[in-house]
Amino acid sequence: MESILPLVYLVASVTFIVGMKMLGSPASARRGNLVAAVGMGLAILGTITLYTNANGEHLHNIPWIIGGLTVGTVIGWMMALKVKMTSMPQMVSFFNGMGGACAALISLIEESHHSAQAHGAHTADIGTSLTIMAGLVIGSVSFSGSIIAFGKLAERIGDIDVKGQQLVNILVLAGVVVLSTMYVMGTMTGMQTLVILAVLSLAYGVLFVMPIGGADMPVVISLLNSFTGVAAACGGFLYDNMVMLIGGILVGSAGTILTVVMCKSMNRSLTNVLFGGLMSKKASAGTGGGIGVQGTIREVTASDAAVLMAYAKHVVIVPGYGLAVAQAQHACHQLEHELESKGVTVKYAVHPVAGRMPGHMNVLLAEADVSYDKLVEMEEINPEFPTTDVVLVVGANDVVNPAAKTDPTSPIYGMPILDVDLASYVIVMKRSMKAGYAGIDNELFFRPNTSMLFGDAKASLTALAVQVKAL
Ligand code: TAP
Repeated sequence: MESILPLVYLVASVTFIVGMKMLGSPASARRGNLVAAVGMGLAILGTITLYTNANGEHLHNIPWIIGGLTVGTVIGWMMALKVKMTSMPQMVSFFNGMGGACAALISLIEESHHSAQAHGAHTADIGTSLTIMAGLVIGSVSFSGSIIAFGKLAERIGDIDVKGQQLVNILVLAGVVVLSTMYVMGTMTGMQTLVILAVLSLAYGVLFVMPIGGADMPVVISLLNSFTGVAAACGGFLYDNMVMLIGGILVGSAGTILTVVMCKSMNRSLTNVLFGGLMSKKASAGTGGGIGVQGTIREVTASDAAVLMAYAKHVVIVPGYGLAVAQAQHACHQLEHELESKGVTVKYAVHPVAGRMPGHMNVLLAEADVSYDKLVEMEEINPEFPTTDVVLVVGANDVVNPAAKTDPTSPIYGMPILDVDLASYVIVMKRSMKAGYAGIDNELFFRPNTSMLFGDAKASLTALAVQVKAL
């Protein structure tokens, strides 16, 4: 029977890859998640029922394993059922932390086997020591870092940036590196060494995430996610378990790619996100004073905006963080419906970092049943703006700021943006002239083809929908 196990692992690994591919589109993401989850269930079930060691023995402690699985499943299931869409990033962070803790615990447990074997053989196996050390250090950093990220996103922990903290961080990291090297080289071995290493790594995870600005947290979570993947892959090496190795590597590489994509879309280096905590806080506290844009702004009423849009051929809606704040996704969908009933073609332009988490706008619009084929990505929609009649910017700011293209001194210079300024007419919905996340003014608001519709996005969108319907 045990010869079936590699086959089960192969099927499970394929489901991970297929599931991950399906996550790439909102239309298939749910099914993709389910496919990968079924694969993981299969791998766990296969391991419990089919695994045998070199002596032909099956797994021991089955009741403990089933007990742990049951407790974990019930808690995870209930948390996932109860979580609000807006609390999703912190839940991802919490679950990721649990993964890191598991990987670290595997290393601690395997140390006792490893030292017993090393004692018998009278030689140190550097490969195994390296894997145990890496799993422990990376898993511990991921665990404590993710828990701090969870606390910050849930607003239970504030941004802390103590003077001289960089130095403390460097010292703790140096301690981790020195002790890890000594453990791998066999100069300091045993459980005590690993426990000290775990404590230092946990401390480093806390210190490294603590000063990072709350809004930079999605990038950090994605990075910690990749750490957990690598730590789990170390477990795969230790147990010579193919499915654990593949799963870990997939999570590790996907997390790394997402981190790079997010940094690129925000035009920030990873170093700036990780070590520029103070800078990003100053920027996000900005109130529009940033680069000091001056000029005349034009205001438009909901009824005039409704006329403009109802008699247009092509309207593009640009959702941003303000849509999430106002929870205006349903009102937005209603306006789209009213416009389409007047014969207007409506599309949504989705910037990769609009909002505050990856896929934030996709999730919001999906919640309101907006059809996936109306969501157009930045590269695809940008060439369409010169032939668009009206662009409606709903609570977006940085992702439509032309300074990213024109002002080399701007903190967002070089960030790819939605070229809404090229459309015939732009209506911007927000509550005031305040800045967005980057803390800088937006010259778009002063352009002759732009009009401001001030107010809460939900109220403005509802008013617009009513006016369009009445026309
Ligand atoms: P922002 O630049 O943050 O602008 C959002 C705008 O929404 C604000 O200017 C605000 O203006 C308005 N707003 C807030 N509440 C509103 C409400 N109830 N009704 C109407 N308007 C409201 O948003 P964006 O354009 O989506 O850009 C996202 C920013 O976040 C980028 O700088 C990006 O780099 C950063 N970021 C993104 C991520 C991810 S992964 N998405 C992660 C971290 C950081 P008022 O206050 O005047 O209303």
